[in-house]
Amino acid sequence: MDGDERVKTGIKGFDQLVEGGIPVGANVLVTGTPGTGKTIFGMQYIYNGAKNGENGVYVTLDEKKPDLIGQAKALGWDIEKLEKAGKLTILEIPLDKAGVNIFEMIEKAVKKIGAKRLVLDSLVNFAVNVDQFVIPLNYKMSDIDPVYKISNPNQKLMYEGKSERRITYLLLNELSKLGTTNLITTAAKPGSDLLTVDGVSEFVADGVVHMHSVEGEEDFNTLNVLKMRITKVKRGVYNFHIGNGGITLKTD
Ligand SMILES: Nc1ncnc2c1ncn2[C@@H]1O[C@H](COP(=O)(O)OP(=O)(O)OP(=O)(O)O)[C@@H](O)[C@H]1O
Ligand SMILES: [Mg+2]
Repeated sequence: MDGDERVKTGIKGFDQLVEGGIPVGANVLVTGTPGTGKTIFGMQYIYNGAKNGENGVYVTLDEKKPDLIGQAKALGWDIEKLEKAGKLTILEIPLDKAGVNIFEMIEKAVKKIGAKRLVLDSLVNFAVNVDQFVIPLNYKMSDIDPVYKISNPNQKLMYEGKSERRITYLLLNELSKLGTTNLITTAAKPGSDLLTVDGVSEFVADGVVHMHSVEGEEDFNTLNVLKMRITKVKRGVYNFHIGNGGITLKTD
């Protein structure tokens, strides 16, 4: 990670909160309750990069590729055109079969277009499906048992503690090897004080962007940067708007 070099998200109002952009090589979590705009934030980061000479890979475990293309189109972004031009790749990871070598798939996609940016959407679906994936041998699988945690009704969190820390570490560590600057979406449970459903990934990541929305009130979405290593963060909770062109922060 290098604080001297910054990757501009191009999301209006955001970069000025983090000294002009995300440190090159950082792993940044984008968290928030359902429907707050995490996927759009990630798409906008990849789209803006692709338009400005920094290729990007969008790894989706949450939504189907055609749905993402449709969502982008509704915001005025022609993702397919950029994909055809080799500037952007949407990589959908199959979750209906075992033995998927997710990291090999991601690495191939990154190398193919020389990607500098990467989004993985989402950590939650990565964690839930981790035992479906081929995981490098140096990770101890016995520590990683999200299925047990989820099926245990006494657990307050969906999965917690050791397993989840290791799963986050595994993912971020593998993504770091690619040399890309990464956004990883995750989720927060509505009504919970916790930043993420697992309660620990925010400690492992280099940065945390928190998105929030208040139900029933139009145009009441907020964003704050809770953490960005080697960066003087401009603190504060900022309103944002989603419309044609994506997310715009109100910073004045
Ligand atoms: N064209 C548009 N114009 C205005 N708002 C839009 C438009 N498209 C989507 N939205 C808003 O964006 C929100 C969805 O954003 P997004 O899919 O990024 O959320 P998310 O945080 O990823 O959700 P999830 O937790 O379900 O993955 C919707 O709730 C919708 O209100
Ligand atoms: Mg989403």
